[in-house]
Amino acid sequence: MAMSTAPASPARPPGSSGPSGAPAAPVWPASAREAPGGGLAVGGVPLAEIADRFGTPVYVMDEDEVRARARAWRTALPGADVAYAGKAFLSRSMIRWIEEEGLCLDVCSAGELELAAHSGFPAERIVLHGNAKSPQDVRAALRLGVGRIVIDGTGEIARLAALVPPGARQRVLLRVVPGVSAGAHAAVRTGVEGQKFGVPVAGGEAEEAVERLLGQPRLELAGLHCHLGSQIAGLGPYVTAVRRIVPLLARVRDRHGVTFPELDLGGGFAIAYREGDPAVDPRTYAERIGSELALQCDRFGLPRPRLTVEPGRWIAGPAGVALYRVLSVKTTGGRTFAAVDGGMSDNPRPALYGVRYTVRPAGRTSAAPGRTMTVVGRHCEAGDVLAEDVELPGDLRPGDVLAVPASGAYHLSMASAYNLVGRPPVAAVSGGRARLLVRRETLDDLRSRDVGE
Ligand SMILES: Cc1ncc(COP(=O)(O)O)c(C=O)c1O
Repeated sequence: MAMSTAPASPARPPGSSGPSGAPAAPVWPASAREAPGGGLAVGGVPLAEIADRFGTPVYVMDEDEVRARARAWRTALPGADVAYAGKAFLSRSMIRWIEEEGLCLDVCSAGELELAAHSGFPAERIVLHGNAKSPQDVRAALRLGVGRIVIDGTGEIARLAALVPPGARQRVLLRVVPGVSAGAHAAVRTGVEGQKFGVPVAGGEAEEAVERLLGQPRLELAGLHCHLGSQIAGLGPYVTAVRRIVPLLARVRDRHGVTFPELDLGGGFAIAYREGDPAVDPRTYAERIGSELALQCDRFGLPRPRLTVEPGRWIAGPAGVALYRVLSVKTTGGRTFAAVDGGMSDNPRPALYGVRYTVRPAGRTSAAPGRTMTVVGRHCEAGDVLAEDVELPGDLRPGDVLAVPASGAYHLSMASAYNLVGRPPVAAVSGGRARLLVRRETLDDLRSRDVGE
């Protein structure tokens, strides 16, 4: 069996449905094809060529896939704002693609905000988040004129209002917690009480925060926000959130005579990391959540607020492919380990959340029978695992290039320089051409920060 030539997922537009009507969940970018000489090509460029040209590890971003995914949300929700969650992956080019596709941008630090602003992203289309915004974050937001600041707790209200210059008004949203448990791991479940984000709807805390916000003349409360968590495959949690938030909007209207023009339901839309994993379909989301919102608003006699969604992973994740070179293949304790030249420093997600990935050879054809292997990194931890128990060609050897799909989100943005291994570069592919977006972090970069004796 020629393991390395197993076809990539069939090319399908993102957000389309499979023949069964179930949400399609391609793990490779739609442009993925078998390369002419063996291996895989993405965006018309053989991945082996990218590995040779930029070195490994290297992250490949398929520009057309990012744009198609951004467009899928815009098309599904034409009357809504789609704010790309920049924490998933941010670079100057990514910011430009997102801007050109007409999206808004969600940032959560002065760093992300300054990068966006200096890349020419319109500040009024930026939303600033954060459960603990530093004075620097807030000052940058006010100086640059971000469209919305999301208030995460009652204590933040007076502090922010005090920083808004006299005569000005800052548009804000209030992040509420609807008491909905959703998300692939406890670390990313933010819709329930007892975690650090937001103000609970239950118990009246959110209503109290609304009252305080309405009493601040320098803050303009435009609506409520919630973000339930990440890698949420079903729509049920979003429906429940709407059913809990709209009655709160009605209570605010009854008590204060105020109806909010906006409602931000956050992101968290699941993608496939392995073949067959479920993924959210933006059109199904738009139909289901749009009709639930209409239903609940009609029920309480409220006008429908303008919706905002904040997909991060869904846009960046499947557009990215990580390439590594095999450094050693070793069988020990009855298991075979393929060790590569990256690992938990560029992808901490398996160690943090127990995420399972798929992997395939990217550079050559092999007729060798398949063998179960675990792909591990080069770092000093036994938990430095990239892909557990995956089928790879039995003749896999040092020098081979391996490709890990669904690597575009929360890899590089969460990367470290553990063991002083510099962070990998990012190359964009489109129309048969590859270009460098972010260069590799060098030893000199790392050394230059070390200024002590
Ligand atoms: C407030 C907020 N919005 C959106 C997102 C994006 O989530 P995802 O990338 O899972 O869509 C996050 C992720 O942490 C978030 O905290």
